Order: sequence, then structure tokens, then C-alpha cells
Amino acid sequence: DWTMAAYRREMIGRIQQQVGSGRVICGLSGGVDSAVAAVLIHEAIGDQLTCVFVDHGLMRLGEAEQVVGLFRDHYNIPLVHVDASKQFLDALAGVSDPEQKRKTIGKHFIDVFEAEAAKIGGAEFLAQGTLYPDVIESVSFSGGPSVTIKSHHNVGGLPERMNMKLVEPLRELFKDEVRALGRELGLPDAFVGRHPFPGPGLAIRVPGEITPEKLDILRKADAIYLEEIRNAGLYDAIWQAFAVLLPVRTVGVMGDGRTYDHVLALRAVTSVDGMTADFFPFDMGFLGRAATRIINEVRGINRVVYDVTSKPPGTIEWE
Ligand code: XMP
Repeated sequence: DWTMAAYRREMIGRIQQQVGSGRVICGLSGGVDSAVAAVLIHEAIGDQLTCVFVDHGLMRLGEAEQVVGLFRDHYNIPLVHVDASKQFLDALAGVSDPEQKRKTIGKHFIDVFEAEAAKIGGAEFLAQGTLYPDVIESVSFSGGPSVTIKSHHNVGGLPERMNMKLVEPLRELFKDEVRALGRELGLPDAFVGRHPFPGPGLAIRVPGEITPEKLDILRKADAIYLEEIRNAGLYDAIWQAFAVLLPVRTVGVMGDGRTYDHVLALRAVTSVDGMTADFFPFDMGFLGRAATRIINEVRGINRVVYDVTSKPPGTIEWE
């Protein structure tokens, strides 16, 4: 791709100019954006870069292992894997407000990055895979009044005092452009095609208070839902699909017993840039199969609903 080849060269020059001989820490989230940022920055400054993958305990099933494995096997970039799940989950205990969750997570990410920077003898710069829509949506809703809908954890959710300067080479790009740049940089196709996953992870897919038990239930259900989507050959037709564990319990019947368990909402949308989205029109057979499997296989869920809200007026995530 001609445009992306040119963009790649230009960004490499800009990164070199900004960073000079300084050291950079790049937060890897497991998503496409931060991976593309890391590979681009590595091309620009080589071993001045250290990548840090922070496991905040809010990843999906097996995700931390997959991400770290992929990076170790494909790239020659130093990678530190920090298990900070206790720190994050302790800080989030009792927090139920969505903006407060993002701010807490943003602050703890920075704490971990600053601690890792100190360990490598200091790093002046923090690199993130922030995209243009993250910036816009954290500032104001496009076309609407100037009001913050969500302070994305890596933009509006950052702490006011931060010792590191930001390096954000993708800040002007939309998702489809980042994917094109990823292909240009030789990232594996399956990786480039991954659905977006928000930095705050499952924290914003458990509306209200987060507990380890709820996270565990959600992880199992989400894995089954995505497995069914892949089995049906629908993964690439969908922008993003995930499950949300609702803080509502309803009555059900299982065998000859009464159940009183959580409701799970399934979400799947199509979109070009995440700024607007349409709900995905699954056929009822698919939804029935996914619901039956989830209820049979996951203890703690006895009812499944499908979210048919588009964006606007809904947002993609529930928080
Ligand atoms: P919404 O829910 O605002 O989401 O329609 C649009 C896109 O952004 C992702 N998202 C986030 N990503 N930090 C992130 O890194 C956040 O705080 C955050 N909130 C939403 C969401 O998954 C979707 O792709």
C-alpha cells in the first residue's frame, strides 16, 4: 500500500526526532493498535524500546498467554510481562462508576509503567497505541454537544501528574488505517484482524461493582460466545463481539430446581471506525445455540439476552 509505506517512513522519522537517544516504554495491551505502535517504534529506535505487557486481571480467557507468546515468538523486542492483577482488582474493589473505573485503571497503568521505567534505569517516554477516535470520543461526541461520553483510559483517563512524555504515532489514524499499517509492517493477518478490545478490559463489561467471581463467570461465557462466532465463520464479518455480565439476577428452572442467577447480554456490532455501529443481525438459530451452550456450561448464568441497540443512541460497550 503506497500510502502506508509513505506513512511508515514519515512516522519513523518523527519518532526518531521526538525521542532522540531517550528510552521508551511501550504498553502492549494485546490489541492491534499497541502492537502496531510497538513494531513501528522498534523500527525507529531499536533497543531504546522496552515493551511492557500489564496483566490487570481483566483480560479474557487465555489472553495474557496468547499475547505474550505471540510477541516472544515473532519479534525480537524486549518484553516485560507484569502480573499486576492484585493491584488493579484491589483498587477497583467497591468502584461501580464507569468513569471512576477508567480513571482508576488509567492511574494504575501509569504507576506500573513508571515502576518498570525505573527498573530499566529510567525512561523518559511512554508509547501508547492511541487512535484518532479515542482522542475524539474522550473530548466530545462527534457532531453533538461538547460533553465527554467516555474518558478512554489512555486519554482522558490518564492521571494529571505524569512523569513520562507520550509517544503516540497512531494518534491521527482510524482503525482500518492501523490495520493497513500493521500489514505493511508484516504483522500476521490473524493478529491484524483481531476485534478491538478496550484497555480497561472486562472491568467495563461487568456493569457496577467488579468481583473476581463475576469476572470468572464472564470469562467462561465470553469464550463460548466467541467460539460459536468462529465456528459459524462470522468472526471477520463482525467489528466487535463480547458478552456483558449484568448485575441483575432472575429466576429460572433447571431440572426440577429453581435457579436465581445472573443475566448475560451478548453484543456484536458492525462498524468502520467504532464511532458509529450497527448491531449484528445474527439468525435466531445462532443465538439459540450460543445461549443454550452458555447456560448449560457456565454456572451462575441462567438467562441470555441479545443487545439490538446501534450506536448512536447506544455505545458499543455498556459502560
Ligand atoms: P464505545 O463504547 O465508546 O466504544 O462505543 C468505541 C470503541 O472504543 C473502545 N473503548 C475503549 N478503548 N479504552 C480503550 O482503549 C477505553 O476506555 C475504551 N472505552 C471504549 C470500545 O471497545 C470500542 O471499540
